[in-house]
Amino acid sequence: MKFKKKILCIGAGYVGGPSMAMIAYKCPDCRITVVDTNPDRIDAWNSEDLPVYEPGLDKIVKITRGKNLFFTKDIENQIKENDIIFVSVNTPTKTYGAGADMAADLQYWEKTARQILKHSRSSKIVIEKSTLPVKTALAMEKILASAKGKIKFDVLSNPEFMAEGTAISDLENPDRVLIGSHETKSGLKARAELIEIYAQWIPLRKIITSNIWSSELSKLVANAFLAQRVSSINSISALCEKTDADISEVAKAVGMDSRIGDKFLRAGIGFGGSCFKKDILNLVYLCSYYGLQEVAAYWESVVKINEYQQERFMANILNSMFSTLAGKKICILGFAFKADTGDTRESPAIYISQKLLAEHAEVIISDPKALKNAAIDLDGIKGNVKYIEDPYRAVAGCHAIAILTDWNLYRNLDFQKIYNSMVKPAFIFDGRNIIDHKKCFSIGFNVYPIGKPALSHFKN
Ligand code: UDX
Ligand code: UDX
Repeated sequence: MKFKKKILCIGAGYVGGPSMAMIAYKCPDCRITVVDTNPDRIDAWNSEDLPVYEPGLDKIVKITRGKNLFFTKDIENQIKENDIIFVSVNTPTKTYGAGADMAADLQYWEKTARQILKHSRSSKIVIEKSTLPVKTALAMEKILASAKGKIKFDVLSNPEFMAEGTAISDLENPDRVLIGSHETKSGLKARAELIEIYAQWIPLRKIITSNIWSSELSKLVANAFLAQRVSSINSISALCEKTDADISEVAKAVGMDSRIGDKFLRAGIGFGGSCFKKDILNLVYLCSYYGLQEVAAYWESVVKINEYQQERFMANILNSMFSTLAGKKICILGFAFKADTGDTRESPAIYISQKLLAEHAEVIISDPKALKNAAIDLDGIKGNVKYIEDPYRAVAGCHAIAILTDWNLYRNLDFQKIYNSMVKPAFIFDGRNIIDHKKCFSIGFNVYPIGKPALSHFKN
């Protein structure tokens, strides 16, 4: 079959894999190839057990794989053969040198640019899908501009706004698609080419365009605003715990103001995930770089409140359990950074587990999708850790439960059965406010929610 467009994606991760699967699903006249420097990733994408868990992803991969969606290891030839290249390699926070712990590590990004330059035999559109600091496209362009002869590259910015756990519905029905380009003739032509792809399933009014720098910055700012809402509500949850206010009631009242809106106002143990912290620190670094110290400090406080919330949660466990956890069994329900994903990157559960182990508690970790990643995250950390998927088996014989992920499964557990199997007095620390606190209290648990008064059977 002759395909209308030949598209390549470099980077078969959480972003590259699902977003390309969606383009293949919606554009049967396009051929999409996904490559990755990690051969195991490619093998996994070609197997029955995909490397990324996302509700609905299996279905669309099954429909498209081998027809117009291909996962291969041959990066060199694929760069030669394709006309449109998405770059979706990871851009972690730098751990060394200038800007360590703040700036993005752009080594993979630059390596990819050089790879594209080396193997291209014809002009191409290169699209940054990874979230990057503002002006990264410029660096990409500078590298690609050294191409010899008639080969030209147009660089576009097309940040991905999907969230994990809802990636497929976000990709299918996004709030907007943003495309940044130069206002030059060839920049506009490249932009039109990308619009043509998205327009196959997304209404044109939702496809917005801007200059490249605005597009890059918009992605960082969108994530910073979302994270800021979580930190704002979490900061107020601390105040609620000191007063008689209830964070759910406050969030409801505040969120019903249509100017504020009700989303991202769930108090909890803090945000995790590969993006929020990384992108805010990026923004902070960028502001500092341009001498905007006050702006940098403002955004940095969002990350600080997030850390404070996790420290507070841990301190609450320790204080409530008579200031000693040594030898006690604590069951962690949920290790993923949010529900409906097996991803544990920057999950608050990592910090909490480490602190519990440092207090010499025995930690039993349960999660329907993230146990493999949890074991990798805690590898090499001293202490007694067990991994048990079945929540009932995991909690049996424990002194306390800490709910760290908002899996639906945990809302509907039989807490009477759980209580019966635990050591008394039994404690629940609900880091996501997802269970029925009054009911658990009446069963006999001492219940510690976030941003609400504790329900304890102990007399002060
Ligand atoms: C990553 C970034 O973290 C995010 O900021 C960006 O928006 C999109 O890319 P994600 O897809 O979640 O997000 O990362 P990850 O799952 O780690 O996937 C990146 C893939 O790129 C990995 O499979 C890695 O092997 C691959 N890679 C990395 C390359 O193919 N080439 C490289 O040079 C480096
Ligand atoms: C985020 C952005 O939402 C998405 O647009 C971007 O492309 C990638 O980064 P993601 O990290 O996958 O997506 O998940 P998200 O739903 O934003 O949740 C991030 C964290 O905030 C999770 O740990 C979640 O549990 C937490 N959160 C979210 C809260 O604690 N309270 C809320 O009300 C909402």
